[in-house]
Amino acid sequence: MIIAIDGPAASGKGTLAKAVAERLHLAHLDSGLLYRAVAKRLLDRGVSLDAEPEAQHVAAALDLSGLDPAALRGAEMGEAASRVAAYPTVRAALVHLQRNFALRPGGAVIDGRDIGTVIFPDAQVKLFVTASSEERARRRWRELVLGGSPLDFDAVLADIRRRDERDSTRSAAPLRQAPDAVLIDTTHLEPDAALDAALAVIAEKRDRQDEAASLSPRVL
Ligand code: DC
Repeated sequence: MIIAIDGPAASGKGTLAKAVAERLHLAHLDSGLLYRAVAKRLLDRGVSLDAEPEAQHVAAALDLSGLDPAALRGAEMGEAASRVAAYPTVRAALVHLQRNFALRPGGAVIDGRDIGTVIFPDAQVKLFVTASSEERARRRWRELVLGGSPLDFDAVLADIRRRDERDSTRSAAPLRQAPDAVLIDTTHLEPDAALDAALAVIAEKRDRQDEAASLSPRVL
């Protein structure tokens, strides 16, 4: 089973994807790490994020085993990732990596921005996780305060809104809810409640698939 989870920054989609994967014993891919890794490699080499051909080159050479999530965290890398993610050539270079990841027995949980719309348009389960921009900024701001690098709340909110705008208005695979995705709004939802909601959707889809399979004609 392929479970596609999309949504904007700080919506809780990553936490939810991880929890769903753990609960169902499925592999999990945070596709944002791929774009973060492309941006980081360019920055480490002193190459401008405006250089699309170099970004494409780096994306084409990316390998999942070389990703270090700890080194890719942070709002700054998220912003840089959002810039390289707008290049159609970079996105195209990362499609196979994501599709190949899910080609394993049992399937996988993949979260990102375009998983249900472009990468896996036929995913059995699609969830679109969101929350108000103020609530998402509050979460990010709290993380920064707890991490010892406080920032003005309005600056965090402006950053979230700028990233939403870029991710949703780019021409290549913009952030969008797939028509058949189920919306989970986490504005007033604790992570456990979001997990319960997601598991209920998954169980219902599974039941429907099992029912359809039992109704399909069998060759005796
Ligand atoms: O989910 P994240 O914050 O780690 O993602 C960082 C950026 O990468 C995000 O602002 C847009 C881009 N991204 C994307 O365009 N498509 C994806 N499937 C995942 C992330």
